[in-house]
Amino acid sequence: LSISQGGLLVRLKEEELSIDFDRVIDRAGTNSTKWTRHAGKSSRMDVIPAWVADMDFAAPTPVIEALRARIDHGIYGYSTEPDALREVVVDRMARLYGWEVKPSWMVMLPGVVSGVFHSCRCTGESGDEVLVPTPIYHPFLEAPSYQDRTLVPAPATPVDGKWQFDLDRFKRAVSARTCAFLLCNPYNPVGRTLSRAELEALAEICLSNDILICSDEIHCELLLDEDKPHIPTATLGPEVADKTITLISTSKTFNLAGLGGFAIAVIPNARLRLKFEALMRGVTQRPGAPAYASALVAYRDCDDWLEEMLTYLRRNRDLVEQEVASIPGLSMTHVESTYLAWINVAQLGLEKPWDAFVEGGVALQDGQEMDDPNYLRLNFATQQSTLQEILRRIRFVAEKAMA
Ligand SMILES: Cc1ncc(COP(=O)(O)O)c(C=O)c1O
Repeated sequence: LSISQGGLLVRLKEEELSIDFDRVIDRAGTNSTKWTRHAGKSSRMDVIPAWVADMDFAAPTPVIEALRARIDHGIYGYSTEPDALREVVVDRMARLYGWEVKPSWMVMLPGVVSGVFHSCRCTGESGDEVLVPTPIYHPFLEAPSYQDRTLVPAPATPVDGKWQFDLDRFKRAVSARTCAFLLCNPYNPVGRTLSRAELEALAEICLSNDILICSDEIHCELLLDEDKPHIPTATLGPEVADKTITLISTSKTFNLAGLGGFAIAVIPNARLRLKFEALMRGVTQRPGAPAYASALVAYRDCDDWLEEMLTYLRRNRDLVEQEVASIPGLSMTHVESTYLAWINVAQLGLEKPWDAFVEGGVALQDGQEMDDPNYLRLNFATQQSTLQEILRRIRFVAEKAMA
């Protein structure tokens, strides 16, 4: 690990993280979605949640301080975005991806999901088709029909230990009525960082069929394999950028999802941007004061925190992969990015796998919600002691099923 200190790169030994991510923080009493849903609701009182995608880590200190300063002011009237925000994002996109974003391309949103929903309506007519990868983060499955469009699945499958799109199948899913493709990269739930070649192949099919790409890149800074860079779809070329709505946010990277919502849609095409904004009018709020205050500081001042947090996540990922490989009846592919492991439980032969694991004391995300009942999704962004207990419970349920 190297962290920057006063401009110097300092190498730290494995065990020397300066932030204590091992510290267990009790989330009881905070109305945490993750921690309240199952509390005391099964026959077990002590179910550990490992489902919804947020982290059990405190936000970076600069974010907490910025929020404190904003809260201490005491007046929380209508709020506009901080002056510096767009420039901070422009600098970050240039530094991380060599992507030259213009400040005017950005539309502020209260969340990435609302951006996915609006994108479906930005193009096409009533009943036109939207390609949705499967398996997929579940709101993608709802977005087309809520926006008067028809969902057409574009399945990915594990080939040679890697979830991939079959391009022939993808092409066959395209019809004269296909108006949009909802891409998720990095890919939740399968934990892939799509390569340039994969993205180019998908983008080429979209361009030649006049299909809008909505590229949800919310997990783009949660890169666990350091040799697999994130490539924003819009950087593939100007023609692709012209047909792409990119969605980014600080919420996953810095664990800020509950702060009232913040995301940015980057839309270089002016006509598309106007349409997107028109769809938002009167329906979608802009982010509030705490969301803006935290996003500015997260994007500007928290890279040291992020680098250490990623080191911690990589260790957790390694632990999960090592354990799952040794548990009978379970399998998973390598997690390149995100903090989510997509675990195949089909071999256990359980009628209701999700319920069986809850009875065993661990609430994973049910794969059925993401279009594949043979899988459960494990969120490993938690303290190692908690993760070890989660894995112990998973092993117990699997061994019992296989006995
Ligand atoms: C791919 C993806 N998009 C969007 C979201 C949620 O975004 P938001 O809370 O900003 O709507 C998540 C959360 O897990 C996600 O994994």
